[in-house]
This record gives sequence, structure tokens and C-alpha cells, in this order.
Amino acid sequence: MSPLVRRAAVVFAAGAALLSGFAVHGGAQAQERAADASASVAAEAATLREAAAAHGKFVGTAVADGRLGNSTYTGIAGSQFSSVTAENVMKWESIEPSRGSFSFAAGDRLVDFAQSHDQQVWGHTLVWHSQLPDWVRNGGFSPAVLTQVMNNHITTVMDHYEGDVAYWDVVNEAFNEDGSLRSSVFSDTLGQGFIAEAFRTARAADPNAKLCINDYNTEGLGAKSNGLYNLVSSLLSQGVPIDCVGFQSHFILDSIPSSLQANMQRFADLGLELVITELDIRITLPADSSELQRQGQQFASVTNTCLALDACKGVTVWGFGDADSWVPGVFDGQGAACLYDNNYQAKPAFDAMLTALGGTPGGGDPDPDPGDPPGDCRATYTVTNRWNAGSVVQVSIVTDSALSGWSVTFSLPSGRITSGWNAAYAQSGTSVTATNVSYNGSVGAGGTLSFGFQTDSGAQYATPTVSLNGEACSA
Ligand code: G3I
Repeated sequence: MSPLVRRAAVVFAAGAALLSGFAVHGGAQAQERAADASASVAAEAATLREAAAAHGKFVGTAVADGRLGNSTYTGIAGSQFSSVTAENVMKWESIEPSRGSFSFAAGDRLVDFAQSHDQQVWGHTLVWHSQLPDWVRNGGFSPAVLTQVMNNHITTVMDHYEGDVAYWDVVNEAFNEDGSLRSSVFSDTLGQGFIAEAFRTARAADPNAKLCINDYNTEGLGAKSNGLYNLVSSLLSQGVPIDCVGFQSHFILDSIPSSLQANMQRFADLGLELVITELDIRITLPADSSELQRQGQQFASVTNTCLALDACKGVTVWGFGDADSWVPGVFDGQGAACLYDNNYQAKPAFDAMLTALGGTPGGGDPDPDPGDPPGDCRATYTVTNRWNAGSVVQVSIVTDSALSGWSVTFSLPSGRITSGWNAAYAQSGTSVTATNVSYNGSVGAGGTLSFGFQTDSGAQYATPTVSLNGEACSA
């Protein structure tokens, strides 16, 4: 890892600490000024990350490695979120599929993505009973050897990402629903002591990374969160280095625990950082508009809980597009659990979460991709197929501003449009106007609209200038 890379991570952490530290330690007037400034920054914010930053919080998403080639996906991931978690590629089965053989390429891709978008990386996860390769699960190792295997995994992975990963889920999902310790190769072989061992090893590997324990169904007061609370209290009293608790928050519509804040507060009172690490809210399909509205209110309510607690440093959603979510594959007939729909169009949940953070859906005019040249839109005009009497064209436009309705113009020097999809077409001579149809007029800031058409000409021509709502886009 380069010094530049290390510096980027440290600067990010320092910035976050400054923001939250100012609010906590400043005098009353300074706090008021800070609150006013935050409110006005947030009010102009059209992206989640800007609005959250005004509160000194981060907003994150799980990122699927397989989607990093999709520009719509990366446009949203890079512009809306200030933290990214590897959905799968930093898990044990991906990173150490056979003993002592480490594979970092996919994790490194995420780190590169994060660094080019000024994002924090959340490491997920070091010690977990699931997505664990057979050589560990069924290895039949003695306690001494399994300890060495576990510690070697933690140390090698954390060394590799030292300075790049700000937080690690060191231990994931260690509890049963009744609050007892879950059976796994780790607990069965090493007893509960594997947890303290893992945290001590992690601190030694990267003293600057924040070390977390992460679980689901621990969000409200109850048997499982009591088990977690008792364990964490006991670890702290033994001096085990643990910095934070992750509340995964895989919720069901209308079932957000009413004790979420009270439960988080008791962990905050232990002096720990708290993070909502994997938020989604699933709905029985098909989701109707009233359910989508309620889902928005519930994303907002979880966000508000985090805002209400100084100890809560951020909210990460477990993927942002409904089509990418793990939910439909695991819960038959359920889904629509994310902020964006199957076509990466912002849902009411996105607007509600942004509003909860103090931002304005469609407000401001941020540049979602600071690396890009200035401009409100970037267009890709691709002739995907051409033959002697026809061609097929696909157009995608990334917009920096949120849209409610769009009209795209360009010229087609040769031929006429014979059919099209995802837009209504009007052609006058060489001038073409493509207008949104009922289902794709609303596009969030940083989102992408796309449409395509077929023509009756196979002639070659230079890529035309594409304008969105009257403004020329950069190519
Ligand atoms: O990589 C293989 C691929 O080679 C194979 O062809 C394909 C066939 O099914 O499977 C691929 O693996 C899948 C893997 O995701 C990577 O895409 C697994 O089947 C699939 O089960 C796995 O699901 C992941 C799940 O964890 C596994 O436990 C989800 O994507 C991921 O969102 C989910 O995330 C977990 C968190 O890590 C912990 N908290 C709960 C959360 C939701 O389950």
C-alpha cells in the first residue's frame, strides 16, 4: 500500500473526527453556529453523502464487485455514498480460499474505487461462520492450530489493507436468537474466547483501524441484543480492544423495532461507536405505492435514530438497487428493499432518507463525480449494431441534477428511427427528440437515464452532440 493511499484514509478519518469533535466539544455558541452551518449545507445537499457529512456522519453502501463495470451503478455508488463495504469479496472464502493462499484482487478493486471517489472503506468481515471455506470449517484443527489459522487470516488481511480500511467487522454474527453463543467451528473449538483473541490480534495487526462486532436482530432490546451487550461489556472490562458495534438492520416493512434508539443508547453508554451497517427494508412483492411511502418513512426513521446519537457514526445500506439485493434470493416473494428500484431510479426511500439528513431531493447542483469534467450531464452514444440498411443505438446519460421528466435532443444525419425503447421519439428532418416515458422520468442526482432505438440506415456518422433538457452534455 502506497503512502499516498495511507494518507488518503488518514485524512478522511481526521475529517470525520473533526466534524463530530467540533459539535461535541465546542462552546454553546460555537455549537449553534456549527448547527446553523450544518443545516444550511445539508439543506442544499442533493446527495446523501453531502447531507450526512454536514452532520459529521457517513452514509455507506455495500458494493457488489460484479457491478463495478456498470456505469449507472458506479455513478450512484460514487456520488451518493461516502463509505463502501465489500458485499462479498473481503470474506474469508474469497480472500483465503485455501490455506495460506490469499487473493486480494477483488478487494483491491473496491479500495481503488473508494479512493478515486474519496470514500471510506469498511472491511467485512474477518471471522464469520458463513462464507467460510471448507478447509477451515471442516479442517478438524486442534484449538492451537485453529487459533493460529484464525490469527494468520486476521493479520494477513489487515496488514494488506492497513491504512486503506477504516473499520473492520472483526467478528460477525456470533449469537443465536436467544442470546447464547452460536455454534461454529470457532466457538465449538475455542469457546467464547475466540472473540477476545480475534480482537486482540486485530488491534496488533492495524492499531489505527476501528474494530467492530456486527450482528443482525440485535437492533432492538431483547434476548439477542442482551447477549451481545453482556459480551461486549465483559470484553471491555477485560480490556479487550473493541471500538464499535454494528447493527446490521435487515428490516421488514412496518417492523422496525421501537426500542432501536434505547438499545443503541445502552451500547453508546459503554463508550462505543455505533453504526447501522447493512440497512434494508424488505416488502412482500409486489410493493404498492403506500408500502413504498411507508418504507421511505422507515428509512428516514432509522436515519433519524443515528442522527440523534453522537455515538452513531453512519448508516450503510446493504446495496442500493433492488435488483442487486440479496433479499429476493433468500426470502421468497420479498424484495424492493433498497433506495433505488430495479432500474436504478430513486424510490421514495431515497428522497425520505435524504430529507431526514436535511438534504433536498433534486436540490443543489453537486458534481457527483469530482474526477469528471464540469457539466451537468455526460452522455454515451453507442452504435451497438450496424448493417447495410439499419443500426441500433443505445444512449445513456449521467445527470448531476435530479430530474422529474427529461427531453434529450441530438441529430441523426442519416436515416429515420423505426422503433425504440425507454423513450418516446419525435423526428423532424435530422433532429430527434427523445422524451421520457411514464416509468423513467424521475432520475436522482447522479443517476443515469438510458434509452435506445433502431434506424433504417447503416451509414456511418460522427457521434452527435447530445443535449439533456436543452443543455449539451459532455461525451
Ligand atoms: O460467487 C459465487 C459464484 O461463483 C456462483 O456461481 C454463484 C451461484 O449461486 O454463487 C456465488 O456466490 C454467491 C455470493 O453471494 C457472491 O455473489 C452466493 O451464492 C450467495 O449465497 C452469496 O450471498 C451473499 C450472502 O451474504 C451470503 O451469506 C450476499 O450476496 C450478501 O449480500 C450477503 O450479505 C450478508 C452479510 O455478509 C452479513 N449479514 C447478512 C447479509 C445478508 O445475508
